Amino acid sequence: MKTSRRTAVTTLAAAALAAGFPLSALAQKKLVLGFSQIGAESEWRTANTESIKSAAAAAGIELKFSDAQQKQENQIKAIRSFIAQKVDVIAFSPVVESGWEPVLREAKAAKIPVILTDRAVNVKDDSLWVSFMGSDFLEEGRKAGRWLVEKSKDVKGDVHIVELQGTVGSAPAIDRKKGFEEIIKADPKFKIVRSQTGDFTRAKGKEVMEAFLKAEGKKINVLYAHNDDMAIGAIQAIEEAGLKPAKDITIISIDAVKGAFEAMIAGKLNVTVECSPLLGPQLMSAVKDLKAGKTLPKRIVTEESVFPMEVAAKEFPNRKY
Ligand code: AHR
Repeated sequence: MKTSRRTAVTTLAAAALAAGFPLSALAQKKLVLGFSQIGAESEWRTANTESIKSAAAAAGIELKFSDAQQKQENQIKAIRSFIAQKVDVIAFSPVVESGWEPVLREAKAAKIPVILTDRAVNVKDDSLWVSFMGSDFLEEGRKAGRWLVEKSKDVKGDVHIVELQGTVGSAPAIDRKKGFEEIIKADPKFKIVRSQTGDFTRAKGKEVMEAFLKAEGKKINVLYAHNDDMAIGAIQAIEEAGLKPAKDITIISIDAVKGAFEAMIAGKLNVTVECSPLLGPQLMSAVKDLKAGKTLPKRIVTEESVFPMEVAAKEFPNRKY
């Protein structure tokens, strides 16, 4: 049987009334959010994408999602296409810090507010974005440094550190390096002997760690990895070199994804500093607040902890990503 459009609308209206919704709500257009994601380089990123998609669905927000596959030019293209489609709000996690002025100016000229999630941009004019929500990467680097200083307090000789940096030019790579160095520089026994990018991926983390091991061998005391995925890749390289991760080489990383907890429970990773990817619900309420005419705080910082291997088994069942 064919249902006429009028009958269908009447039925929908009756259902809305029965559910206690005002009829005017039916006439309201769904909010549209354009989101440009960096890619799928890590377990963290996958959890972040999932959080954004599920929170949009739960909030009744139409999500236009675009995966930039690690390329800034793709993010710029996606933002331009969101502007052309006249979305209500644009949000994005910038792969690198610089080079955003022109496209952000275009969004501002089109009167579309931009929310930064996870990573910051480096632009002179702060009015080009309305709010930045995410972790304090500088503090994460400091937490990693403080853990190492405490752990090495009885060590008399030099502590040789190798560092696996995140994506070159990205906010977390810049700040996690800076925060860590700020703490360890208080004691000259801490020496970063090698530092190179592993691009936040397991494959690159393993490859670069192999090169570190070839160059420095058993001289390496500590690995500081800017994320868990690179640490997990490096653990494989360490084992293949016949060394024991977390024993012969102390391993510190950042994110606190489930994979890191599994590595800690297996006794292969010493500590992970939390960086939460679960930004979806916060983003959706910010989108709604914006459209309701509210002013958002310029900076919304995520609260986070540090998880050493000793607490991993107890904490594991509570982990959501
Ligand atoms: O910007 C957050 C970082 O990006 C996470 O630490 C890393 O795993 C991810 O790829």
